[in-house]
Amino acid sequence: MIRQEPAESKGKPAAVDLLHWYDRHARVLPWRSLPGEKADPYRVWLSEIMLQQTTVQTVKAYFEAFTARWTTVQSLAAAPVEDIMKMWAGLGYYSRARNLHACAQAVVAKHNGVFPEDEIALRALPGIGTYTAAAISAIAYGRRAVVVDGNVERVIARLFQVQEALPAAKPLIRSLTDGLTPDQRAGDFAQAMMDLGATLCSPRRPSCGICPFLGACQAQKAGDPETYPRKTAKAEKTVRRGAAFMVRREDGALLVRTRPPKGLLGGMVEVPGSDWISGAPVPLNPNGAPFAADWQRANRAVRHVFTHFPLELTVFRADVSLDTPTPEGMRWLPAGDIAGEAFPTVFRKVLAAEFV
Ligand code: ADE
Repeated sequence: MIRQEPAESKGKPAAVDLLHWYDRHARVLPWRSLPGEKADPYRVWLSEIMLQQTTVQTVKAYFEAFTARWTTVQSLAAAPVEDIMKMWAGLGYYSRARNLHACAQAVVAKHNGVFPEDEIALRALPGIGTYTAAAISAIAYGRRAVVVDGNVERVIARLFQVQEALPAAKPLIRSLTDGLTPDQRAGDFAQAMMDLGATLCSPRRPSCGICPFLGACQAQKAGDPETYPRKTAKAEKTVRRGAAFMVRREDGALLVRTRPPKGLLGGMVEVPGSDWISGAPVPLNPNGAPFAADWQRANRAVRHVFTHFPLELTVFRADVSLDTPTPEGMRWLPAGDIAGEAFPTVFRKVLAAEFV
């Protein structure tokens, strides 16, 4: 038998070392096919869209719920977009849910219900960018593609001691990843890189002693892996503040409205509130409330961090009678429908606010 010399002894990173590790340590995830089984492109696509900006732990339950309800791209394409938005509630970045529906419809209409294999055709679909196209092409179809996400960036920056800071280092990291990507098993290689980044090659206190790239990793040899990837200092983002008004009617109904379709949390349901203003003081009074009432202020502000700014909402609550008129552009959500409504996480926090 010809035995292949482990590449790690040569002191250079090699895909084969990582693939050996992956064969023993791959994480079991609901969207992954078993060894030797063909991956389902629909499940790969859905998982990759959900995993953009969201952790594996959070995605698992959503992925199970979506695939139980919509087993194929055809069934997802045929679903009302409102149902998809409701099921997406809590995952954040809601434009992903709209694009999900648009993409499913495009795959059915333009590709006969079969996801394209090729990255260029994939990138032409709604919600599929460079990363996702490469991931689908490699993971679902086994094609050689260069797949770079945040975890891969960290692994590569350490392996090659990339001194340039992110985001400027992206092209270099991409080309180093390209150089390491094998022709065979490119999908496994991509997922192995992600698993390595998510487990051993963690941002802090990486487990270098049991890493398949031990001996080949330049940052490990230099003793400073934690300092990679280098990052340019971010400017502090100013907090925005505003008020949120939680109105409960005698029958338990909640006063809500739908946000405009475009922009932050577009098309999602919210309780009424004031504008969110950068650097504004904490609102002490219910200015901008939908009507005069006996407003109570919550014990503490609700905090939520969006990509572009942190938010602090002061929650005011009023209990009102059945004959309260409905303010323009708003509606009463029956008590029994509140749990199943598509509230983004920030408004779930508002609804959980405590009052003395
Ligand atoms: N993050 C994004 N896609 C992933 C995948 N396929 N496996 C593990 N982590 C991921």
